[in-house]
Amino acid sequence: MKDTVAIILAAGRGTRMKSKAPKVLHEILGKPMISHLLDSLKRAGVTDMIAVVGYASELLKDVLKDMNTVKQKNLLGSGDAVMQAKKLLDKYSGDILIVYGDTPLISSETIRGVMNNHKNGKVSATVLTARLKNPTGYGRVIKGDDGRVLKIVEEEEASLYEEVIEEVNVGVYCFKAGDLFDALRDVKPENKKKEYFLTDAIGILNREGKRVDAVETDNTNEIIGVNSHKDLAEATRLLRQSILEDLMSRGVTIQDPASTTIYPDVRIGKETVIYPYTVIESNVEIGEDCRIGPFTHVRPEVSIGNQVEIGNFVELVRTKVGDRTKVKHHTYLGDTIVGQGVNVGAGTITANFDGKRKNETFIGDGASIGVGAIFIAPVRIGKNAVVGAGCVVPKNQDVPSGATVVGVPARLLKIGKDKQGKKQ
Ligand code: UD1
Ligand code: CA
Repeated sequence: MKDTVAIILAAGRGTRMKSKAPKVLHEILGKPMISHLLDSLKRAGVTDMIAVVGYASELLKDVLKDMNTVKQKNLLGSGDAVMQAKKLLDKYSGDILIVYGDTPLISSETIRGVMNNHKNGKVSATVLTARLKNPTGYGRVIKGDDGRVLKIVEEEEASLYEEVIEEVNVGVYCFKAGDLFDALRDVKPENKKKEYFLTDAIGILNREGKRVDAVETDNTNEIIGVNSHKDLAEATRLLRQSILEDLMSRGVTIQDPASTTIYPDVRIGKETVIYPYTVIESNVEIGEDCRIGPFTHVRPEVSIGNQVEIGNFVELVRTKVGDRTKVKHHTYLGDTIVGQGVNVGAGTITANFDGKRKNETFIGDGASIGVGAIFIAPVRIGKNAVVGAGCVVPKNQDVPSGATVVGVPARLLKIGKDKQGKKQ
């Protein structure tokens, strides 16, 4: 077994979410919060993971398919949740990293920092902390003069002196396996919630003379624990902001960050300008020197070349757009491959769904598409073809290169010629 195993706590219901789904499945920019966390763990090099599930656990199967899961039958608290993983860790004596499934924005660097401190420091436990001006809702970290952690006190249990402490427990810890399970055995549900608190294990270790270190993160944006829809909106705002800042630092112009939403896993080239009210979802690549927006919706699996213009009320999904192409107004392109230097007129629509399956449209280089054209997929429009305004091109009625088609349904008006004047 590897020298660090992660336990991810995801059994909680998240009562305040008022939802049928487990709390950790609520999405932030298109991805369940637990998946954000799992991505960070993977980036931090953690490969061995155990998730503790409970409430509506069947709904978590998909997102947890790469890892072991154990079920916590009764939600008796975070300490009890960790205890459930013990049966999968029989005889394991390495380090245990514990993370809460509702802290989606923790970075891989911070996780690595906690793990490294733990490895180098020869301590029983390492706790990730942060200093918040408003620590409401978090457990407070009580430290001795030498900087060691003495205990963690939950907010409801805190005295007036403890309540004003600004250093909080983030919910990321590293423990020596043996010390963790020994301490958890002594945790009692003696608190207002009558729960077994994982945080009590810290005080127990300290009382036994074992050392607990704190690693503090300066990035207070990454530590948010999501317990309510208000927290979810705040986490979304924070992630959005950091994605936009990262893109701007790479040379992308974002005219109005307040009205622009860009999901994770989007690459945008430099000199590209994103105009207001644009939404770009995950798995999208946009080249250099493009103009996107205002009011553009780019959905997943889209690849846009260089010097492309995508304008108002245009929706793209599973689509490739070649260099220098213009798709400027009121258009829907789904499952479409558009070549280079194409002009797609206002109001062009690909009818990609026939009621059963999604079909592809292909538009060749240099084609000129008149306003209000409709393509019933699957269909291919050849290079340099001209499609008249309002034309409906029926499925499988491919338009040859250089040809001109008009009308409803499309009829051939002119056959294309190549540079030598030969018919194409
Ligand atoms: C917890 C910490 C608190 C910390 C905060 C950080 C405890 C006792 N308190 O408080 O010190 O500042 O997180 O965000 O740990 N869970 C289970 N089974 C249970 C109970 C909880 O799996 O029986 C899981 C939840 O799904 C969640 C995590 O543990 O992912 C934390 O539980 P939650 O109830 O959200 O704890 P907080 O009150 O936020
Ligand atoms: Ca929480």
